[in-house]
Amino acid sequence: MSVFDRVIDRRATISSKWEKYAGQDVIPMWVADMDFAAPQPVLQAIQERLAHPVLGYNARPLPTIDVIQHWLSSHYQWSVDAEAILLSPGVVPALNQAVRAFVRPGRAVAVAVPTYPPFLQAPLNMSRDVQRLTMTAANDWSFPIDQLKAVLSGKHNIDLLMLSHPMNPVGKVLDRPMLEEIARVCEQANVVICSDEIHCDLLLDARRHTPLASISAEAAARTVTFQAASKTFNLAGLGCAYAVIENPTLRETFEQAGAGIMAHVNTLGFVATQAALSECESWRLELLDYLAENRDRVCEVVERLAGLSIQRPQATYLAWIDVRELALDNPHDFFAEYGLGIAAGEEYEGPGYIRLNFGCPRSTLEEGLARLVRAVDSL
Ligand SMILES: Cc1ncc(COP(=O)(O)O)c(C=O)c1O
Repeated sequence: MSVFDRVIDRRATISSKWEKYAGQDVIPMWVADMDFAAPQPVLQAIQERLAHPVLGYNARPLPTIDVIQHWLSSHYQWSVDAEAILLSPGVVPALNQAVRAFVRPGRAVAVAVPTYPPFLQAPLNMSRDVQRLTMTAANDWSFPIDQLKAVLSGKHNIDLLMLSHPMNPVGKVLDRPMLEEIARVCEQANVVICSDEIHCDLLLDARRHTPLASISAEAAARTVTFQAASKTFNLAGLGCAYAVIENPTLRETFEQAGAGIMAHVNTLGFVATQAALSECESWRLELLDYLAENRDRVCEVVERLAGLSIQRPQATYLAWIDVRELALDNPHDFFAEYGLGIAAGEEYEGPGYIRLNFGCPRSTLEEGLARLVRAVDSL
């Protein structure tokens, strides 16, 4: 039995995932957190910190920065100065801060869709335009590099490319040649790149992540990277992420854009991040195996169902399932009626798709999949 097989009742914890369907017999498989306990060393580090009863303001947590720096070099052969690492209460606030910092009035952000909704919301929040690049299943969810080139060479006024690397919701990993091409065209057009790498520690099947900024000095000079321990170690409620910005000018502009509005990272968030990145590698490796098996099980069931299709996710614990052939008016409500709480593709600008979170114990997954099958069989 795996530690990830343990079923934990989250209903009394004000979890957004579970509160959405409170009082209903619906298994929530929508928002991106997992139903697994945080690793024991993380829980212990938090408890140890709480043994000290004073929870005042913190200085910059240098031991945490040190651990992040080591994580980047040991996992990604990416050597960065400590000053390049900034803590943030979340990647979503950091995405908004990046738009505020780097996109001038009247200018726009390029985003490949389907995408994580805050990529589209952050420009809107600053009244900046979005230039969409379209990815398709027919093209294997490849990054639409030709569209990016066209958009950057046309009169679209792009200041920033926002990249989900690896990609939520489609679960695709960008390889080095593609990263080089993206960096090259952004260099030519003098566009800043915001590389959201929050899922980068969740590559399946022994794939290796390459941080975009690590591929060359030129890429590093125009890239702001966001990562966190929150998805990997299931710590999203603790509000701690980090930005890596090697170019001091970009870093200063980014920091200025957050001045007065960006909160400090909370004590337990950086304590947990430090423990996760320094003491939990075996937990993470076991998790990846478990997730890959869950992913395989989802694909096996989906591929057997008439009208559904899926491309095997290469990363994340999110399955992006094509249900267009079912011609459902409202996929969310349809599956919820059968007791399965998925995220509707429209939210990601992928109508006709559903996103199913398989970061849960196998028994929960099996029950969710049984409900998926019952729903589809009812048609
Ligand atoms: C690509 C991506 N970025 C950011 C986030 C959320 O980041 P945070 O919780 O740190 O704001 C998510 C969560 O699903 C995500 O998928």
